[in-house]
Amino acid sequence: MNKNILITGGAGFIGSHVVRLMVNKYPQYKIINLDALTYAGNLENLKDIESAPNYNFEHVNILELDMLINVFEQHDITDVIHLAAESHVDRSILSPMDFIYTNIVGTINLLTVAKNYWSTDLNNHRFHHVSTDEVYGTLGAEGFFTESTAYAPNSPYSASKASSDHFVRAYGETFHIPYVITNCSNNYGPNHFPEKLIPLFINNIIHKKPLPVYGKGENTRDWLYVIDHARAIDLVFHEGNNGEHYNVGGFNEWKNIDLVKLLCKLMDEKLQRTAGESEKLITYVKDRPGHDLRYAIDASKINKELGWEPTVTFEEGLSATIDWYLQNEEWLNHVTSGAYQNYYTEQYDNR
Ligand code: NAD
Ligand code: TYD
Repeated sequence: MNKNILITGGAGFIGSHVVRLMVNKYPQYKIINLDALTYAGNLENLKDIESAPNYNFEHVNILELDMLINVFEQHDITDVIHLAAESHVDRSILSPMDFIYTNIVGTINLLTVAKNYWSTDLNNHRFHHVSTDEVYGTLGAEGFFTESTAYAPNSPYSASKASSDHFVRAYGETFHIPYVITNCSNNYGPNHFPEKLIPLFINNIIHKKPLPVYGKGENTRDWLYVIDHARAIDLVFHEGNNGEHYNVGGFNEWKNIDLVKLLCKLMDEKLQRTAGESEKLITYVKDRPGHDLRYAIDASKINKELGWEPTVTFEEGLSATIDWYLQNEEWLNHVTSGAYQNYYTEQYDNR
């Protein structure tokens, strides 16, 4: 069946991989990438597919209701995959309101426009909301997040994502919008904006700058290669059951400090530096307020019901990611000029 799929946030990190997968895999679908091009959005991420006949770009902010209505009408949108968001925890601590507007109000705008536009025939549509495992809060040393774990968000970012998840559910229950929600663990890979741990540290190692590890580096994250996340979104979008959540994770937990040491080792090898040189850049800095200790996903539901599992090992994925950053110096220089410097100073100076 032909579909006209609106993908929001398609110029960002994960969104660009989802757009690429859908454009290449489904030539019969029309893909409409809608993105406000904030600091995190970059059309350079999509250069290889920008002239594909089934690809369209709309420079629109999800806070602009009238513009959203136009896009739905102009492209006769049949489905939504919603990734547009403010996505960085540290920025949500510096400036929470941006997260309330985009993540909560923006999601409600999209739901409202979809509900009205699809009202005559709700059954043949789908609203896929892309969310995070951070809505579940933090784990101690044991256990995993399942789809029935109670929401307990601890940062303004995760609280805004939890709220948006609740609104998607509410629009499903109240207005019968057919929806699915995926809650994924930490992603890594090419095109990741260098404010998050892995790309920030790769960039700093390249430039021999300090590597600011928060607290004691004991916090643990479950890392998934971004292309495996895009594959999971494709699968749940097409085959997931309406009104259900699917947790997506890498079965790949790393303490931050162990991950940073591995990154230093790999980069010393690739940059032909003396073994141990980059580790000397590690600097322990003041902890993030409300820093979640551990995230770990139980991805057995998506595995058993839809047959999804990660295909890229952490060793392969991390090596490919480092190679991508080393080969895309121009991309890195573009995104780290200008406003990035102001953010960096505000976030890390005097820490
Ligand atoms: P990102 O910050 O790299 O990209 C976000 C994109 O959304 C950017 O292109 C930006 O321009 C766009 N955007 C922001 N505000 C907008 C607005 N008001 N209107 C239209 N576009 C807007 O984020 P990401 O890491 O690719 O994350 C994508 C989604 O996946 C988010 O919803 C995030 O919560 C979720 N997620 C991320 C991770 C992760 O590890 N990065 C893990 C699980 C879930
Ligand atoms: P991040 O990539 O921001 O993802 P999230 O907070 O959504 O999990 O951070 C991953 C982990 O790395 C988290 O425990 C915080 C830590 N971290 C640092 O120690 N130093 C840094 O400069 C950053 C950005 C993160």
